[in-house]
Parts: sequence; C-alpha cells; structure tokens
Amino acid sequence: MTLHFAVIGDPIGHSRSPAMMMRACAALGVRAQYEAYAVAPHALEHAVRGLHALGFAGYNVTIPHKVAVCAFVDALDHSAQQAGAVNTVVVRDGRTIGYNTDGIGYVRSLLEEIGPHAFGRDVLILGAGGAARGISYAVKDRLRPKSIAIANRTRTRAEGLARALDCATVVSWDEVAHVLPSYGLIINTTSIGMEPHEEPCALDRLRAGSIISDIVYRPTQWLAHAQSRGGLVHGGVGMLVHQGAEALEMWLRAHGMPYAAPIAVMREAVQA
Ligand code: ATR
Repeated sequence: MTLHFAVIGDPIGHSRSPAMMMRACAALGVRAQYEAYAVAPHALEHAVRGLHALGFAGYNVTIPHKVAVCAFVDALDHSAQQAGAVNTVVVRDGRTIGYNTDGIGYVRSLLEEIGPHAFGRDVLILGAGGAARGISYAVKDRLRPKSIAIANRTRTRAEGLARALDCATVVSWDEVAHVLPSYGLIINTTSIGMEPHEEPCALDRLRAGSIISDIVYRPTQWLAHAQSRGGLVHGGVGMLVHQGAEALEMWLRAHGMPYAAPIAVMREAVQA
C-alpha cells in the first residue's frame, strides 16, 4: 500500500516539505507519495474535502490557510485550539483531526541546537500572528520562561496574544531595540527576514550570551549580526524539520507504524 500525503498552501512552489518527507519515508522504508498543491483561498474547502475523499492519509497546511482550515476538519486537538491554527491534519478512523506541531517543533529544535541554556529565560517574542501563537504557548508550557513579552507592529494583536497567554506583557514595536538587554531569548516569528536586507530590530544593545532565534529558514542577515555580537543563534531549519517529524510520526502511528522520524536525513533534505 502507498500512503498519500500533501501540503496545501498558496504560494507553495518554494516548499521544502515534499523533499523532506519523501526522503524521510524512503529512509524508513515506507511507501509514500507527498505532493505540494497550490490551493487558492476560495477553493480551500473543496480541496480539503477532496483530499479526504481521495483517501489521503494526512496533509500539512501552510500560509495562508492555517486558520481557515480549522472550520473544515472534524475535530481540533488541544495544540490547534491553543494556537487557533492547524498545520497538520491526521486522518484517523475516517475522521480528520487538526493539530498544530509548529510550537512543539520550535521547542524541540531550540533544545536540540541550544540545549538546556534555553530554559528559564526572559523571552521576547516578535510578532503576534499564527506562528507566534503556536510558539508562545509551547515556550510557556515547555521552557519554564522567567517572563514572556510580546512586541508586534500592530499593538492590538500583541495585546490579544498577551491576554490569551495570561502571563505575558506587551512591549511597543518601536521600543524593541532599546529594551533588548532585558531579554535572554528573542524570537522573530515575523516574515521580515525573508527579504534578505530587512531586519526585525537593531541589535546594537544585544547582550552576549542571549539567544536569538528566527523561524525564517534561509540564513538571515539578522542572525549573522547576532552571532557577530556574541549571541547564540538558532535559525528556522530545525523548526521546519521538527514540525514535519511530529506530523509524520502521527500519520504513521495512525497506520500502525510507530516509527521515529529520521531527523538528520530530513535536515539534510531541507538544506540540499
Ligand atoms: P504567520 O501565520 O506566519 O504568523 P501572519 O498571521 O500574517 O502570519 O503574521 C505575520 C506577522 O509578521 C505579524 O505579527 C505581522 O505584524 P502585523 O500584525 O502588524 O501585521 C508581522 N509582520 C509582517 N511583515 C512585517 C513588517 N514589514 N514589519 C513588522 N511586522 C511585520
């Protein structure tokens, strides 16, 4: 039997997920196909129902559908309810269940690359969109942060996320560069670094030994600057790998294959 998986998004041409998942399945000896499909927002419901009707074993959901897809699955796992967004759908006993593996993927990758230094820090999260929501709950639940602050260009969204987290404060977007020395883990969840010359904030005041983390998975100028100032840097490749590993393990478990995802092979495929 060949298992069929997909990722849906728009645009989707740049996605590294097909290469990563196909390499992972090959390494595990699992017969599978994983394809990327461009789905326009107005076609999302039809696409989701179509994947289900065609017998897909599971699929990933990416920008811009992570929030909208919540309405089209049979149930939402706790992780998706907290984040208000789904990045992984598992088909189990004929029912579709939405999960969010971004947060756990982020934390696993941070711990893999930075180690236990990541625990117990004062955390500053830049951005308050879907990615920030998934990550901030995982940071709160798993990294024992001393404090959490949110800064976002649109302040009302930062306030909404801080309220939902029930333990976070808000920092003005314009103040970020100034308050940087107060934070030991600074996480960029915005898409700013995707443009190579844009940086979410100036790093002149960065404390040596602070962790600077960016979910953009290409090398960014911001992280290069952070490193040259003595920061411990963490890029987005690991999060991509670990969110995918979590998804793959759930899909395979639903088919009686409780295999551990081959992390090193997946990382290699993303970076090829
Ligand atoms: P995602 O699901 O990937 O988080 P999103 O919900 O669209 O996507 O959120 C994108 C985040 O990047 C938001 O925090 C956004 O800030 P706003 O809430 O003010 O829109 C932030 N962002 C994107 N481009 C930005 C820019 N040029 N400057 C500052 N923030 C930016």
